Amino acid sequence: MSINPDLAVKTGPLNLKNPVLLASGTCGYGIELQGFVDLEKLGGIVVKGLSLEPRSGNPPPRLMETPCGLLNSIGLENVGVDRFISDKLPALSALDTAVIVNILGDSVRDYQELAGILDQVRGIDAIEVNISCPNVRAGGAAFGSDPDMASEVTAAVRKATSLPLIVKLSPNVTDITLIARAVEHAGADAISLINTLLGMSIDIKARRPVLANTFGGLSGPAIKPVALRMVWQAVRAVNIPVIGIGGIQNASDALEFLLAGAAAVQVGTATLVDPLVSVQILEGIRMYMKETGISDISGLPI
Ligand code: FUM
Repeated sequence: MSINPDLAVKTGPLNLKNPVLLASGTCGYGIELQGFVDLEKLGGIVVKGLSLEPRSGNPPPRLMETPCGLLNSIGLENVGVDRFISDKLPALSALDTAVIVNILGDSVRDYQELAGILDQVRGIDAIEVNISCPNVRAGGAAFGSDPDMASEVTAAVRKATSLPLIVKLSPNVTDITLIARAVEHAGADAISLINTLLGMSIDIKARRPVLANTFGGLSGPAIKPVALRMVWQAVRAVNIPVIGIGGIQNASDALEFLLAGAAAVQVGTATLVDPLVSVQILEGIRMYMKETGISDISGLPI
């Protein structure tokens, strides 16, 4: 008898129709992909990180392809929270999929103010707190690499909103479990990891770093084993759901994260290669569950 697997997941207080999400920074504000992808098939969309004011990001060059990966130093270019709410959110929130808004700031106060603004707006299902961007001097990974600062940002955002709160962690730390526990205790409903690994490339002819910002964040299949190891560790360190991110490019990759105990996954760099890949990953997970006789997604973790 063929089963029809149940892929619905509960990520803390956030209900998702399935565990496949688009990762922040790789899908714009979601709506740019309309017409290419049936976004309503997905569990959710995490929009490009938003700041209080618009940002133009770092100077170019800010992207470089590496063997099995991508280095970026975008520098958090975004339209700012006001334009997101007026220009992007109406079309995005009309879609039948979860809208998760990634936020960032230079100070704890910035994060708190952003969360307060978004808390008052209809059509947002959750906030993802970005304390892990490696490409900016203030904020970003500086908050995510210190348990006390990670905790301070999380607690401030927690106070400002009752929306489900996901905190996105950096892999550029010595012990991921310390940061994971710190944000759990400060009120996070879930954690997502990993953001990019800090890297660089040098142009040997020009004799200078390729990226104008010297360093960038490495994503793509090259980082998957590191991401999987950190997700495995985080799942076993906290009692809140963990969302796996890092180099997922097909259903097998996604299943590895789900078997490790991730409640959901985010697909990032692979979408830049093939905008349809997230839907194919979802179908691959469904097929695997049918073939292995697993009727409920909660039966996947090993
Ligand atoms: O530079 C960037 O915009 C990257 C952001 C991030 O990794 O969170």
